[in-house]
Amino acid sequence: MDKIIVEGGKSLKGKVKIGGAKNAALPILVSSLLAEGQNTYHNVPQLRDIESIRHLLSDLGAKVEKDGHTTRIDAGGLCKSEAPYDLVRKMRASVLVLGPLVARLKRARVSLPGGCAIGARPINLHLKGLSQLGASVKLNHGYVEASADRLKGCDIYFDIPTVTGTENLMMAAALAEGVTTLRNAAREPEIVALADVLNKMGADVQDAGSSVITIRGVSYLKPAEVSIIPDRIEAGTFMVAAVLTRGDITILNCEPSHMGGIINKLKLVGADITVGDNSIRVIGENGIESVDVKTLPYPGFPTDMQAQFMVLMSVAKGLSIISETIFENRFIHVGELKRMGADITVSGNSAIVKGVPMLSGAPVMATDLRASASLILAGLVARGATEIHRVYHLDRGYESIEKKFARLGAAIKRVRE
Ligand code: EPU
Repeated sequence: MDKIIVEGGKSLKGKVKIGGAKNAALPILVSSLLAEGQNTYHNVPQLRDIESIRHLLSDLGAKVEKDGHTTRIDAGGLCKSEAPYDLVRKMRASVLVLGPLVARLKRARVSLPGGCAIGARPINLHLKGLSQLGASVKLNHGYVEASADRLKGCDIYFDIPTVTGTENLMMAAALAEGVTTLRNAAREPEIVALADVLNKMGADVQDAGSSVITIRGVSYLKPAEVSIIPDRIEAGTFMVAAVLTRGDITILNCEPSHMGGIINKLKLVGADITVGDNSIRVIGENGIESVDVKTLPYPGFPTDMQAQFMVLMSVAKGLSIISETIFENRFIHVGELKRMGADITVSGNSAIVKGVPMLSGAPVMATDLRASASLILAGLVARGATEIHRVYHLDRGYESIEKKFARLGAAIKRVRE
C-alpha cells in the first residue's frame, strides 16, 4: 500500500488543470445501460471509483473500453441484471445501476449497500421512488430485487433531496411510459450533466437543476458522445490550498458557475479571487479570517468540501463553527487534525474550530476520500513531515493529486509502504 509524505511550509504557486468530475462520470457511465450501441465519454477521470463502475458495467455484459481519459461503452449485449455484493461493497454509487437495469431488462438484483464511514446512507428514497414507478421491490438476503414489465410515469416527492436517488429515478423514468415528476429533487450540477446526456440520447428531461424535474418517458434511447464536466470538488480543494499556503494558484478547466458556495466562503476568509470563463485565480496573501460554514444541498456549501475547509479554519484567526447537515458522521478527520495540533471540539453536528498559529506534521490516516484530502492540505501547512496512510481513499476521487501539488511547488511524494 502507498503512503504520501508531505513536508509543510511551501507557498504553492502556478497553474493546475482540473479533471472530469467523479460524481458526474459515475451516473453518466451507468446511463450507457439504457441504450444499445457504443457511447463515447471524454474527460473521464482516472480514478479507482471509475474503475469500479467500469468493472461492474462489464460484469453486467457491457463492452467497456478505456483509452486514457476516454471510455467507450456498448451495452448492446447487456445480459446480467445482478450487481453483486463484492462490487457494491467497494463503491456504493454502484446502486445507480438499479433504475437503468429495471428500465432496460425489466429486472434487477442489486446488493444493498451498507452504512459507510460518513453515515448510514440508506437508499430508501431510491426504492420508494422505484416502487412508485410501478416496480415490485423486495429485500432478500441483503439484495434489492426489483422488477417491472414497463415502468409507469408518476409523481415522486423526495423527503430529502438525494443526489444519486434523483439520478437513479431520472434514468429509470427516461424509459418509463408517461410523465414522471421528481419533486424536491437534488439540484447539483452533476444532475444537470446527467440530464443533458439523457437528452442527447433522445430522452425528454426538463428543468434539471431546479427542484422539480419533469421526464417524459420514451420507448428507446440511442447512444451518445459526451464530455464529462469539471470536478468542482477537486477545484475547490486546490482553491483552499492556495489560501492555506498563502499562495497564488490559477485553477484551469473548471466551471466557476458551479462553485458559488465555495468562492463566496473563500472571499470571506480573505482570499483574492478572480473568476475567468473556465478558470479561477486564487491569491491567499491576506491572512485567514474565521468564517462559519454550514453544509447544504447545492447551491449551498458542499459537504464534500467540509473537511478541506476545516483545515483552513484550523489555522485561521479566531473561532469558526462548522455545521455538517448532510451526513451524520462526517467528522472523521477531526481526530487526525487534532493529532496535528488543531483545536477542534465536536458537539452534535457542529465542530467548533479555534485557529492555532501552526499545525505539526504527524503520521495520519482517514477512512474517507475527502477526509484524506484534508490531511494532505493540513500537511502542506504543518511544521515538519506528515505521512498520510491508506492513500487508496484518495485514489478513489483525486487523479494524481500528489503530482499536481508537486507541480505547484509542494514538497510531496508517494512512496510504497
Ligand atoms: N438519504 C436518505 N435516503 C436515501 C438517500 C439519501 O435518507 O434514499 C440521505 C443520506 O443519508 C444523506 C442525504 O440524504 O443524509 C443526502 O444524501 P445523497 O443521497 O444526496 O448522497 P449520495 O447520492 O449518496 C452523493 C455524492 C457524495 C456527496 C453527496 C452529497 C455521488 C456518487 N456521491 O452521494 O459524494 O457527498 O451526494 O452531496 O454522487 C464524495 O464524492 O466524496 C461523496 C461522498
